[in-house]
Amino acid sequence: HLEKQRCVWGEEEVFHSWFTSSSFAHKGNNGRVGIIAGNDNMPGAASLVTTAAVQSGAGLLTVGTTRPVIQAIATHVKEAMFTTLSANQEGLLAPTEKELFAFYENKTVVTIGPGVGRGEHVKDMVLHAITHFNGPLILDADALRVVADCLDSIRKRKEPLIITPHPGEMGMLTGYEVEQIKQRRFEIAEAFARENGIYVVLKGPHTIVAMPDGFLTVNMSGNEGLAKGGSGDVLTGMITALVTRQKTQVALSTSVYLHGYAADLYKKEGWSTESITPSHLIAKLPDAFKVVT
Ligand code: APR
Ligand code: MG
Repeated sequence: HLEKQRCVWGEEEVFHSWFTSSSFAHKGNNGRVGIIAGNDNMPGAASLVTTAAVQSGAGLLTVGTTRPVIQAIATHVKEAMFTTLSANQEGLLAPTEKELFAFYENKTVVTIGPGVGRGEHVKDMVLHAITHFNGPLILDADALRVVADCLDSIRKRKEPLIITPHPGEMGMLTGYEVEQIKQRRFEIAEAFARENGIYVVLKGPHTIVAMPDGFLTVNMSGNEGLAKGGSGDVLTGMITALVTRQKTQVALSTSVYLHGYAADLYKKEGWSTESITPSHLIAKLPDAFKVVT
């Protein structure tokens, strides 16, 4: 089925592929989510990714981050639990192996990246999760800076690995110039997903989702109101919540669609795209999710 190899993932696909969770669901089977995010100078990224995951249906959510970040966000991220991870003198995460193993315990999905910064310990942390966390793993933002050095371990991994690069991060991963990435997006995303057996969400206008089996979806929702620091963190939170409750491909393609659609709803209401913020996107998710009801 050649025509099945690539498709636009729009409202119809989102609606028809959606698995409805039963009214007997309890918090445990809606996913026990672990998110490692933030550093002392970026509490906002941890807040956005977490709030987006809660607003997208995550059952139980734990954020692993530094003590100061917990103090900064705990009062407004009310649904989350927190685990303090060790940090270095600059306030960048430097968790011990013991802390990481304890964090994975009971988690059905782990996400690492938003706001973790460029610390020397990011690589150890990412490599540890690739090797020792036995569930779907989502890597975003600063975690992507080290993925090129972890490809051998990634290829040995059995559970799904999902990466969510923007073109600059994809350039770092593959060695291509950003312009090359933009011009040959389909080809590059597809090859990287196939060769490494992973899911690639290559972001930007018309985000592509490339599956390890070669299937690829392209998104048509979204607008320039998304071109702001933090909107990527919101997408990662949505993906984190959906991954344990839908097929991986559906979780990714549908998150991307609804994320853009939330921004489109504001535009339709007459908002200027200047004024759409990542926080607004989260506030609009209850309306965006009407597509699947
Ligand atoms: N049209 C549609 N979608 C868009 C557009 C656009 N014009 N611009 C951006 N988007 C979407 C992308 O598809 C993606 O989902 O917004 C999101 C942006 O995600 P990221 O690029 O990851 O941005 P984010 O992490 O929130 O913030 C940028 O990343 O590399 C760092 O230093 C950089 O601080 C900056 C941060
Ligand atoms: Mg980002």
